[in-house]
Amino acid sequence: MKTPVPDYLDEVLDSLRGDTGGANADYIPELAAADPERFGMALTTTLGRTYAAGDADTEFTIQSISKPFAYAAALIDRGHDRVLEAVGVEPSGEAFNELSLEGETHRPKNPMINAGAITTHALLAGAGAGPDARVERAVTFFSRLAGRDLRVDERVCASELASAHRNLALAYMLRTYGILDDDVPSVIEGYTRQCAILVSVRDLSVMAATLAAGGIQPVTGERVMDPAVARHVMAVMAAAGMYDAAGDWLTRVGIPAKSGVAGGIVGVLPDLVGIGTFSPSLDSHGNSRRGRLVFERLSRDMGMHLF
Ligand code: DON
Repeated sequence: MKTPVPDYLDEVLDSLRGDTGGANADYIPELAAADPERFGMALTTTLGRTYAAGDADTEFTIQSISKPFAYAAALIDRGHDRVLEAVGVEPSGEAFNELSLEGETHRPKNPMINAGAITTHALLAGAGAGPDARVERAVTFFSRLAGRDLRVDERVCASELASAHRNLALAYMLRTYGILDDDVPSVIEGYTRQCAILVSVRDLSVMAATLAAGGIQPVTGERVMDPAVARHVMAVMAAAGMYDAAGDWLTRVGIPAKSGVAGGIVGVLPDLVGIGTFSPSLDSHGNSRRGRLVFERLSRDMGMHLF
């Protein structure tokens, strides 16, 4: 017999299945081929209870949703001051793949846009770490957050790497400004591998619930990060997680969130819940269209707006 919460979640998905607007990301060829009908969601409370509906165990690449979690790892590995020296915390008001550097320091404006996330990736695993150690750090850290062993989708990774000219260009600009000092192609390969880690909405909800719980993974009980790191990451998600739609999202939905071009969205309400949604079709900002509608419903029906 079903409990009322999954019934409600099924009803939310069913009410939005008719929405067929938007389009899959096509600048990564493998993502263009994803089944647009896939649709799932999961919620995990800070007590570690998960409620899921639809395609809750379908795996998809984490893409930009890796950014807040890699940022947390960089803060742990390098400390707040070093990370802040390299990447700012201001919303960019521009698309995710714009250069968006600060005028004087040339820091990328925040770690949620590609320029900031590429810089963040290069900070993983401590000073002097090589490309393999950085990727390994992302995979093992995300696995601890999800509570299971995650892996890279090699096809999606290869597909993106074959057309990663824009990210390479961003990284070469960062290198000319001295923000990056590593070999650019290996940083982009590592960052692209980080983006190609496979997750389900169930994983995303647990990863986000770990932030919501102040850094304690609520299923395994492991402390994965300090509360100060979790708070900082959630605040940056609120300010910049949805790129040039961040203000609209925060006022309308009111749940700090991060989207990915494969169609995932992760949301987090401090002390309460982590949320993951998946539907591949994107709006003009690169955010999942049906995912956004799910978050709007949750915010409205369950009073989840932060303010
Ligand atoms: O770097 C890229 O362009 C992709 N690997 C990730 C971009 C992304 O997910 C943007 N989000 N909505």
